[in-house]
Amino acid sequence: MTNSDSDSSIKLQMPRYYAQRAHEYEEIFARPHRQADIARIQRWLGEQFSGRHVLEVATGTGYWLPAASAQALSWQGTDINTEVLAVARSKSLDFSKVSFRLADAYALDLVVPGSASPFDAAFAGHWFSHVPVHRQAAWLAQLHRQLAPGATVILLDNRYVEGDSTPIARVDADGNGYQVRSLSDGSRHEVLKNFPTREQMQALLQADAQALEWQELDYFWTLKYRLR
Ligand SMILES: C[S@@+](CC[C@H](N)C(=O)[O-])C[C@H]1O[C@@H](n2cnc3c(N)ncnc32)[C@H](O)[C@@H]1O
Repeated sequence: MTNSDSDSSIKLQMPRYYAQRAHEYEEIFARPHRQADIARIQRWLGEQFSGRHVLEVATGTGYWLPAASAQALSWQGTDINTEVLAVARSKSLDFSKVSFRLADAYALDLVVPGSASPFDAAFAGHWFSHVPVHRQAAWLAQLHRQLAPGATVILLDNRYVEGDSTPIARVDADGNGYQVRSLSDGSRHEVLKNFPTREQMQALLQADAQALEWQELDYFWTLKYRLR
């Protein structure tokens, strides 16, 4: 294979990559050395959303949902891909309070502008790392517009761990990192993946948020904050 063949086999479209990955997505969570972190996060998420009406962005296959939604009052999952939501729907969940709908995370329209939001909490797992640097502030602002004043927001994502994370193959002029990932069908995909720091998140959120709590585990970070 020549270099140009190999370059053209790298697909740039992130949403299609996740649709194609739907049935193998959760394999990443089976890595034995990540289990202690995962169990801790599952417990923590369950507590955070207890008694809450939650809007989840980029739900995917709903990996965190059984734990995170267990004590929530209602849970609205959203994603751009039907393929991943089909996996989420196949899980054993309380569908009297959990529902899903297709929605573009960059064009959330669950709440009519000017009307009261039913959501007093929001969750996005492994999503913020895929938001390009130049869209981060706008994405956060439009998420916040979907939520009630004082709502709690929780972001969860990967830390970059040398030797364990997929290496960053290149960095663009805006500072976005890109990984080259392979699926079991042999396809290769270039996926934007950022690893923001606590300081970067604080700077992005200083106008809208209070009570920021940043947590670093071995393989993941979490950020909890309250809207002003
Ligand atoms: C890394 S997965 C995260 C899934 C899940 N939140 C988790 O923690 O496992 C990223 C998800 O983003 C979804 N996605 C990609 N582009 C999107 C967009 N523009 N709007 C909404 N979801 C999108 C993909 O379908 C995929 O399910």
